[in-house]
Amino acid sequence: MNDPAAFVREAVERLRREIPERAIIAASGGIDSTVAAALVQRAVGDRARAVFVDTGLLRAGEVERVSGYFREAGLSFEVVAAGPRFFAALEGIVDPEVKRRQIGTAFVRLFEDEADRFGTNRLVQGTIAPDWIESGGALRDTIKTHHNVGGIPPDSRLTLVEPLRDLYKDEVRAVARELGIPAPDRQPFPGPGLAVRVNGPVTPERVRRARVANAIVEEEIERAVAAGTIRAPWQYFAVLLPVRTVGVLGDNRVHGEAVSVRVVESIDAMTATAMELPRSVTRAIAERITRELTGEVVRVLYDVTDKPPATIEWE
Ligand code: XMP
Repeated sequence: MNDPAAFVREAVERLRREIPERAIIAASGGIDSTVAAALVQRAVGDRARAVFVDTGLLRAGEVERVSGYFREAGLSFEVVAAGPRFFAALEGIVDPEVKRRQIGTAFVRLFEDEADRFGTNRLVQGTIAPDWIESGGALRDTIKTHHNVGGIPPDSRLTLVEPLRDLYKDEVRAVARELGIPAPDRQPFPGPGLAVRVNGPVTPERVRRARVANAIVEEEIERAVAAGTIRAPWQYFAVLLPVRTVGVLGDNRVHGEAVSVRVVESIDAMTATAMELPRSVTRAIAERITRELTGEVVRVLYDVTDKPPATIEWE
């Protein structure tokens, strides 16, 4: 795609054909689904409703932030609270692929219910090319099942509409500029949310720990960027690991959990480089995580692996 204006014109025309009546839009608050939503609402107006799901797996303050972003982008949208549904779907599951499938299925069932309520079977998603390429499209090996591709069961009554499926991330950004949608002031966040940043069992308790650790990493990295200490990374987050480890708390030894911090530079997420951080920044992160999660998280590691061989997320 070289011409964003032409892409918008053609996408709007195609969407009018693909959505003869109504549609709901799976809106995650990321740039992809926000651009998809804006294209669709430009094409069919309020016959398309954007739905943002509070999965219980979101980062701190996410519902408020995403709502503000949708308002800036001029979308009409609705927030659906569904935490218990997602935790039930994840109970006892540790395999990353099964987690993604369970989350994908929970999303689909929820959107089926929402589509019924809105009187449609059309579901708009912000799927982009790397999502389906990495999910095994184009004859490539399955690297990972992106939740928004792998989770659609064959028996679903939803018909997918994916206006961005041939675009890469930088092209989506160009379309966003064309539509006057501000880039989110946030780094990308995976659709399965904190579930893929909680290695091992996903419980409300462990998600809370991952949420606190992620907020600390974000604050400290953003502080260092604002102070001019480091360049702005592509992504920066914390992962709660499936290990128990010993720490000291006053005079006592405690058996707690461990967190790995990942900060990467990238252009399009297809490859990434682990960023070298000043010790002052990693120390601040480690001190805050172990203090604000006293006795719960007792060890903080820094991930120095590039992509490839590792992926950006741990799962
Ligand atoms: P990986 O971990 O595959 O991630 O190197 C590449 C980029 O994609 C994000 N990511 C996802 N985004 N659904 C999404 O919408 C997903 O299931 C998903 N998994 C990973 C990840 O945060 C990184 O920016």
